[in-house]
Amino acid sequence: MKFKIGIIGSGQMGTGISHVCALAGYETKIYDVIDIQLKNSIETTKNNLMRQVKKGIIKEEQIDEVLNRIKIVNTMDALSDVKIVIEAASEKEDIKIDVFKRLDKILPADSILATNTSSISITKIASTTMRPEKVIGMHFMNPVPVMKLVEIIRGLATDEATFSFVVDLAKDLGKEVSVSKDYPGFIANRILIPMINEAIFAYYEGIGTVEDIDKTMMLGANHPMGPLTLADFIGLDTVLYVLEVLYNNFRDPKFRPCPLLIKMVEAGYLGKKSGKGFYNYKK
Ligand SMILES: NC(=O)c1ccc[n+]([C@@H]2O[C@H](COP(=O)([O-])OP(=O)(O)OC[C@H]3O[C@@H](n4cnc5c(N)ncnc54)[C@H](O)[C@@H]3O)[C@@H](O)[C@H]2O)c1
Repeated sequence: MKFKIGIIGSGQMGTGISHVCALAGYETKIYDVIDIQLKNSIETTKNNLMRQVKKGIIKEEQIDEVLNRIKIVNTMDALSDVKIVIEAASEKEDIKIDVFKRLDKILPADSILATNTSSISITKIASTTMRPEKVIGMHFMNPVPVMKLVEIIRGLATDEATFSFVVDLAKDLGKEVSVSKDYPGFIANRILIPMINEAIFAYYEGIGTVEDIDKTMMLGANHPMGPLTLADFIGLDTVLYVLEVLYNNFRDPKFRPCPLLIKMVEAGYLGKKSGKGFYNYKK
């Protein structure tokens, strides 16, 4: 019998994480502050499972089995019996700290609190709980059901048992792991987000069109997706937030966000999830 997993946040990432957990046989409880996000999350998972059936990755009869393993919960208290919570709420430090403080009170002392943060210090989040040794970063990649990697980030206080537990869990979810120290951006975003920012600068300065910038990096640098498409996919608000974290923590101007990125986020052009970013997604 596998242990239960709790997911906080049912946006793009929480949805994908609940999908892979349930597919691997874990009973999964998912919580969000917005009801409609939870309903949409189940719908998205259903569509993504159907896509996996079409690709021959899973069998049709698995769809209902997997969906039955995902339970929507309307309070955080309902997570009191899970062995591990993977938090994938919005990328805001105050939100994460508030969630971790509440989970710390609700979950048994030996349960693990993992965060999918892209950029916030694991050590800082951990220090706001009574169990810093049980707090760890599990950074899934988007789209979770497709991407093979989970970056594991140990906070300064994370213990060995917590580390091996999440490595084993990630492998059981069918993922490969890489291990990063707890510095801003970890490995993936330390390299990826400044590259995306530079692509936005190239567009802002009129060096190339959106299409030409993406085409150049896809066909010229063998990237599977252009940087501006990837920015839309990640969410421009998330890209901006990660840049601000890198800029503020390293105090290095090389991480300054492009003014166009700031303007687009102000306008609500957040990429695929809002229907508009560097490309249009409205039908
Ligand atoms: N988008 C990516 O490509 C990507 C990749 C890796 C990691 N991440 C990280 O994953 C996390 C989630 O990102 P996302 O893209 O899914 O964002 P999103 O905006 O799609 O979803 C965030 C969800 O969190 C919910 N939420 C906000 N406050 C909450 C609270 N107090 N309790 C419960 N739910 C709450 C929101 O209602 C929303 O449904 C962030 O930390 C982000 O940095 C994102």
